[in-house]
Amino acid sequence: MTELKKMNNTELQKYHSSLSRSYEEMQAQKLKLDMSRGKPCTQQLDLSADLMNCLNKADYIAVNGADCRNYGGVDGIPDAKKLLAWFLEVRPEEVIIGGNSSLTMMYDLITKAMLHKIPGSETPWSKLPQVKFLCPSPGYDRHFAICENLGIEMITINYQADGPDMDEVEKLVATDSAIKGIWCVPKYSNPTGITYSDIVVKRLAAMYTKAPDFRIIWDNAYTVHHLTDSPDPLLNILEACRQAGNPDRVFEFCSTSKISFPGAGLAMLASSENNVNWLKRQISVQTIGPDKLNQLRHVRFFKDQAGIESHMRQHAAIIKPKFDLVLEILESKLGDKNLASWSKPQGGYFISLDTLPGCAQKIVAKAAAAGIILTPAGATFPYGKDPEDKNIRISPTFPPLSELQQAMELFTLCVELVSVEQELTKRGL
Ligand SMILES: Cc1ncc(COP(=O)(O)O)c(C=O)c1O
Repeated sequence: MTELKKMNNTELQKYHSSLSRSYEEMQAQKLKLDMSRGKPCTQQLDLSADLMNCLNKADYIAVNGADCRNYGGVDGIPDAKKLLAWFLEVRPEEVIIGGNSSLTMMYDLITKAMLHKIPGSETPWSKLPQVKFLCPSPGYDRHFAICENLGIEMITINYQADGPDMDEVEKLVATDSAIKGIWCVPKYSNPTGITYSDIVVKRLAAMYTKAPDFRIIWDNAYTVHHLTDSPDPLLNILEACRQAGNPDRVFEFCSTSKISFPGAGLAMLASSENNVNWLKRQISVQTIGPDKLNQLRHVRFFKDQAGIESHMRQHAAIIKPKFDLVLEILESKLGDKNLASWSKPQGGYFISLDTLPGCAQKIVAKAAAAGIILTPAGATFPYGKDPEDKNIRISPTFPPLSELQQAMELFTLCVELVSVEQELTKRGL
């Protein structure tokens, strides 16, 4: 039972008046803060400033002798594969390095599966009467946007503490051949912050799927983005699929967007050699080669795994205090009120907050009316529809600490105010 329910009508109305006054005072400050997207802040981008000048005019040859200024190398230079393959615990032969965006690579893969036969397909997906994807939610809005854009029907799957509800996933994929894939953000998930357990990874790798060309889209965007010194472990899914006799089931993705620059990093995918060879043939039609100079730049700048790990510790030193501040304010303002619950992630870019059912949209709107832009409520669910209207994604990384403090004070006030208003309406007051 919420604390609100214990209040009598007079107490509730008094509480509402006091919250409304505080809200009006905040509104008068005419704040203008954006907490809508998980972007690195300027200080984080500055960590990679030397990427801009770490190549000189004589430095353009990759280890295989390729001139990085020229055409060629659709799957990336070996130096870059070696630098990044450990992210996904894969062999360089299982890697394709792309342009700067892993989201582009995901969109591209699914478009290719729609238009051409992916290994195991009898028909390109677009020629089938229906294609469906499983969407563990709350999840990443841009995954869902890809499905919507390509006319793929989305089925919402609930998240549990250690990954998607696997009983539901197994039941659905075993009986419906139109289900061709599942979106997974397996580590420090966007937005819930959870990491998949070994059991979940093994079940995904081994489950029977009615579609022979079913694929797991394993978006490991936050694989090295730890906020503590004890990173969450994650089982190697490519290996698990191989062991389960489904070697081609998974395509893994990640990028350096939140390591170097979101606008000029490196994206990569990893999969079985069979899948990679198929994709290389497809990509060869589309391009004569990616930006290999940027690949070489990353190799020179980071050097090796240790270089990336120490760089990530510097990122954590900048953003951990922001996560801590958000969590402190949530605890101090809402901790004893039973109006919301929230994640306490060990890594990644988000805090996921659940309000009382039916409040999220109104809270986001109230915050916007006082100058704080949040991710739209519902965005973390397929079709932008949160069935309980309760999930809000908080992105602490971009604003400076002082702004974050103001934004969170206003946000928590909006949570209280909307919850009280809902209770007043229920009581007909
Ligand atoms: C889960 C997830 N995947 C992918 C991306 C975007 O990746 P990229 O910049 O490599 O396109 C993001 C960005 O927020 C994300 O949260």
